[in-house]
Amino acid sequence: MNQAEEFIKGKLQQRADKGILRKLSSATFQADFSSNDYLGFGRSAELNAKTEQILALIPAHQNGSGGSRLLSGNHWFTEETEQHIAAFHQAPAALLFNSGYDANLGLLSSLGQRGDTIIADELIHASLIDGARLSNANRYTFKHNDLNSLEAKLKLAKGNSYVVTESVFSMDGDTAPLTEISKLCKTYQANLIVDEAHALGIYGKHGAGLVQQRPDLEKDIFARVVTFGKALGCHGAAVLGSVNLKAYLINFARSFIYTTAAPIHTIANIRSAYQLLEQTDYTSLIREKINCYQNLIGKAALNNIPSTSAIHTVIYPDSHTAKKAAATLQEKGLDVRAILSPTVAEGKERLRICLHTFNTETEIQTLVKELIKTYSA
Ligand SMILES: Cc1ncc(COP(=O)(O)O)c(C=O)c1O
Repeated sequence: MNQAEEFIKGKLQQRADKGILRKLSSATFQADFSSNDYLGFGRSAELNAKTEQILALIPAHQNGSGGSRLLSGNHWFTEETEQHIAAFHQAPAALLFNSGYDANLGLLSSLGQRGDTIIADELIHASLIDGARLSNANRYTFKHNDLNSLEAKLKLAKGNSYVVTESVFSMDGDTAPLTEISKLCKTYQANLIVDEAHALGIYGKHGAGLVQQRPDLEKDIFARVVTFGKALGCHGAAVLGSVNLKAYLINFARSFIYTTAAPIHTIANIRSAYQLLEQTDYTSLIREKINCYQNLIGKAALNNIPSTSAIHTVIYPDSHTAKKAAATLQEKGLDVRAILSPTVAEGKERLRICLHTFNTETEIQTLVKELIKTYSA
């Protein structure tokens, strides 16, 4: 075996020895408590039909887009969809990216110049971490949702400074104190960037997000990222911000420039998902299921992180017990997955439970009963 193969084998063996080797699985279970398809849009026949209706009206390549947006991959419908998304989110402009990962990577890596400062919550998503790492800015983290810790870092900031957080944290399900963070940013003249991946569809009027749930807060946010692979059940993302920010990203965000534009089918799918959000109040449907879960969990002595979002947790002391708990629940037909280190910190391995509008009350009752039984076993 050559040296590179030896290296690969060794790294995989280390993970296997720790019980944290990642593997792809296509197993399916009866009740979905794992996907990010919170509103069931990913499986919605209505969304599919709307997409087909739009496609029937647009002359376009039927398959791939043929190039980068800056070359032959742009389409008037993509630009119109960006205007629609910007208006929905009360933002001056929106720029589509092929995924949330691409959006975060392009945004942070292109903004942070030498001498600038990026200050991020310690629990932000890998895509934001990677974007900050690819930038030339100095980087600091602040303790999760801790305003004193953030202020201490703001005092050290030089150049243009950017504060980065998620409105709903992807692995913990808790929310950031956005109004207070925004006030601190104003005081220190820092620019606030908020990733709304798990808030879109769940909070705010028509599910517009947590930022728009707070009065006028969107005006104080430098940039928001909304992603479409979660509650919107399709694929892609948009950066929301000023007209100048959009033009800057078109010029400098490498994950926007050097990639083939999404096919028009994806754009029609995104547009249709926004139409669904506008026509029905899905936030109250998902809220019912979240309340149902919380009422049933009640005061059960599970180690969990308080959450009002669609993401809930049960924390275990190690990967072994978290994996065992997931396997026990899966045997009962419940699709609950364990999240292990290094995705979360060692000793904070967990079950990540996602609630959906399509989960029945009986499914949630079974889940909670089995969770409590498994936790105390
Ligand atoms: C907070 C957050 N931001 C960004 C992303 C990336 O989005 P996408 O799946 O569209 O690449 C995710 C997805 O896991 C996420 O949880």
